[in-house]
Amino acid sequence: MTSELRFDGKVAVVTGSGGGLGRSHALLLASRGAKVVINDLGGDLAGRESLGNKRAADLVVDEIRAAGGEAVANYDSVLDGDKIIQTALDNWGRIDILVNNAGILRDTTFHKMTEDDWDQIYNVHVKGAFKTTHAAWPYMREQEYGRIVFTASSAGIYGNFGQANYSMAKLALFGFAQSLALEGEKRNIRVNTIAPFAGSRMTETILEKQMVEALNPSFVSPTVGYLCHDEAPTNGSLFEVGGGWTAQLRWERAKGVLLPLNKGITLEDIQNSWGKITDFSDAEHPEGVMGGFDIIAPNLKTL
Ligand SMILES: NC(=O)c1ccc[n+]([C@@H]2O[C@H](COP(=O)([O-])OP(=O)(O)OC[C@H]3O[C@@H](n4cnc5c(N)ncnc54)[C@H](O)[C@@H]3O)[C@@H](O)[C@H]2O)c1
Repeated sequence: MTSELRFDGKVAVVTGSGGGLGRSHALLLASRGAKVVINDLGGDLAGRESLGNKRAADLVVDEIRAAGGEAVANYDSVLDGDKIIQTALDNWGRIDILVNNAGILRDTTFHKMTEDDWDQIYNVHVKGAFKTTHAAWPYMREQEYGRIVFTASSAGIYGNFGQANYSMAKLALFGFAQSLALEGEKRNIRVNTIAPFAGSRMTETILEKQMVEALNPSFVSPTVGYLCHDEAPTNGSLFEVGGGWTAQLRWERAKGVLLPLNKGITLEDIQNSWGKITDFSDAEHPEGVMGGFDIIAPNLKTL
């Protein structure tokens, strides 16, 4: 039998944990011994603070304490991420785990999208994750331990009608996480990304009621928990998770075509090579920026 995976002695921050997925992640981490900062400003789905329930975080803190766990509330926006991390430091003197989960939606087709719709989505998802992570990073580097999970979305990976702003932000987070994973590696900081599926107020307007109820956020949290554990077996990876399903995603690249350079390259060369450029039958799974250079470099030598 495998022994229970625990977080005793670890301090975690879960942003946007006053409801939905964040609440579920926080409950799981706390139930396994982590001390958790429950951050939520309690805004509405579109991110309007004034319409929110400021005490959403308190209810989750109460729930954790009632179950014998340790938690404190923080009501700052992720745009003040340093204050959220400071809450962990003030209460428990360290920060080990950060789950960047807070999010809002401003769905609309692109021709109707305002600059504010674009900026607010960028701010909460990307800038907010920057602020929390940037505040936690020096402590994680110093203690040579950190586990960070970013929350992307299938809308960012594949695109989704009416979500250009949200898709932009969600895939941006994966790019952010992949570079952080490389920078944190030597200091035992692991950074991974999930694209969840869960019933929450975010999905209740697009999914059937029965589906929303069935897609319990608690089916996502164990993957998040594992990625936050000492044993986290990966770094810089992306997973789709929900409804009992967890699967890693990776990039796939066609072999492509390497055209001779001595006569220059024409539009027609590209047209004539299109089959090879888009042929995935013998595809590769590139893992780093140098992979492309390795293919190009010998060709450059023929000039
Ligand atoms: N539910 C899904 O199927 C799904 C799919 C893909 C991605 N996601 C992502 O998962 C995360 C959680 O979503 P959810 O479904 O639980 O939605 P949710 O609306 O229930 O939870 C989001 C929480 O973030 C909080 N929040 C919003 N702005 C904040 C800010 N500036 N500072 C602090 N807290 C803030 C909200 O008050 C809310 O409690 C989001 O990042 C979302 O984009 C969810």
